[in-house]
Amino acid sequence: MCSIIGIVTNNHAQVAPKLVKSLSRMEYRGYDSVGLATITNTGISVKKGVGKVSQVNGYLNLASMEGFVGIGHTRWATHGGVTDHNAHPHSCCTNDIAVVHNGIIENYQSLKQELTKTGHTFRSETDTEVIAHLLEQFYHNTGSIKKAMMETVSRIQGSFAFVAMFMDNTLACARLDEPLVIGIADGACYASSDVLGFLEYTDQAIFLDNRDIAIIDSTNGIDIFNFEGEKVVRNPTKVAWELADANKGKFAHYTIKEIFEQRETIRSSVTAQDAFSLKRFCDLLLDARKVIITGSGTSYHTSLIASMVGSRYLKKHFEPVMASEFRYNIDSIDSDTTLVAISQSGETADVLNAVKLAKNAGAKILSIVNVPSSSLARIADVSLCTNCGPEIGVAATKSFTGQLALVYATIDRASGGKIGFDAAAASDAVARVLQNSLKVEALVKDKMARVNDIYLLGRSLHFPIALEGALKMKELAYIHAEGMPAGELKHGPLALMDKNVYVFVLNPSDKTYTDTLGSVHEVKARGAKIIGISDVSSDLYDAMIKIPKMDSDILYPLLEVIPLQIFSYHLALQNNVDPDFPRNLAKSVTVR
Ligand code: G6P
Repeated sequence: MCSIIGIVTNNHAQVAPKLVKSLSRMEYRGYDSVGLATITNTGISVKKGVGKVSQVNGYLNLASMEGFVGIGHTRWATHGGVTDHNAHPHSCCTNDIAVVHNGIIENYQSLKQELTKTGHTFRSETDTEVIAHLLEQFYHNTGSIKKAMMETVSRIQGSFAFVAMFMDNTLACARLDEPLVIGIADGACYASSDVLGFLEYTDQAIFLDNRDIAIIDSTNGIDIFNFEGEKVVRNPTKVAWELADANKGKFAHYTIKEIFEQRETIRSSVTAQDAFSLKRFCDLLLDARKVIITGSGTSYHTSLIASMVGSRYLKKHFEPVMASEFRYNIDSIDSDTTLVAISQSGETADVLNAVKLAKNAGAKILSIVNVPSSSLARIADVSLCTNCGPEIGVAATKSFTGQLALVYATIDRASGGKIGFDAAAASDAVARVLQNSLKVEALVKDKMARVNDIYLLGRSLHFPIALEGALKMKELAYIHAEGMPAGELKHGPLALMDKNVYVFVLNPSDKTYTDTLGSVHEVKARGAKIIGISDVSSDLYDAMIKIPKMDSDILYPLLEVIPLQIFSYHLALQNNVDPDFPRNLAKSVTVR
């Protein structure tokens, strides 16, 4: 979604180049338009336009803007079209307050009517602009930034993290259900959607809680209070991520770098766990009468596998529920329920909403996140971190296998070691599968030049990987792709099979092997081109990616997904798509 950044310096350093850099680092969150506002000798200067950070910086020369205090924004449009006017920052009528915002102000229309009646003029179609005018009204009435912020947050409904810039070199920010973190460096303070906005300058961060307001100025430092105006203490913590983790290194794109990082991240997702949290996590799984697992997108696919593995080894009913569907299925949740919420970002609005509903119904909340300071990690009773480091590519890759490995490790522990999961061995097997990268690239170039329809087949644990592979192909390469249980072919999809279709078959030699091979015969007979992913060769496959034979079937999903990620990456390149930033998608979807 949108990214916000504000910088206050006390050493007279120009902030515009840093604002631009911070926005580039957070561009993966949302990126249809970009804008900056800085305080100059003559007032607040605003430059904004449609495009990526590098494009807008190119034609507006954002980095050359003057000023020691400034705010910036990358927009992923929700209210109002993608236009220069709707790009943030938004200013009030008197142009002495500018605002950047992430979230949705649900009551903006009634506020806009009210403010228009009292003489305010609106210049955009966004919900955000009401914040600037409300601040203007309350600030000019009271002369106090604190009071203006408190009054403003009491009037707006919805979800928000916003940073407002005032002409006296002060930034004021507030959050409700959207992320906001303050970075503290020598000579500067940052208010940002994400630590990546300032990781280059400092690893000292204050994670604001819901209903926090912070006022940052270069002379008085940071004052934090709640929406009621009571002072709150939030201590700085050291950010665990290294800046090097957020660079592309020798790779052309973050996505392929992150695919290759899975050699290490599967291991690190399991090994770096705190023993106390791990024990509590397992206890809450074992104590529950019913376990529900939820997530969105790729994390939902982890939920599907986790439910199968949990039911199998813990001998109780695990139910996967898509986070966006959760609110329609809450009748059976009670205090004997444990909800496991899985999310890379820990900020996905559908997931957070599911957690709130389950909590209200008395359920215990466990979470698996990749961002340890995220909202989800903080509202869960126990949270485990996948420790994959920052995942920048919009399509989830290493976080998915990290989630799977952590799920296996926790269920293994809760079951008294029935799985015997060895993350190091799994990492080594993944490293061997990654050696097929050049073969995949060649297959895409030689055999998949004009592919329009891809189907992916798998049974049992392999069906969620079929879904995940299809999601990657849609997200990254804009190709129509469908994952389906192989057994369902005969109930409809077989009608779609012909010689123009590519079928990926996930068919390792486990208990699903023979049945899935039967499905391969069916599609082969209709002329489809078949790419097998298996440890066993077959003449039925037109091409094959070989994966190692594993002792347990639960390990295959970790391996099968790797070639599908690499296929999707190279199909994206072939279709001239930037795999890191697919159109219309955001990595962290903080609206419902
Ligand atoms: C967005 C991304 C998906 C991701 C999903 C869930 O839709 O585009 O790639 O899987 O959010 O994200 P989360 O951070 O909750 O795992």
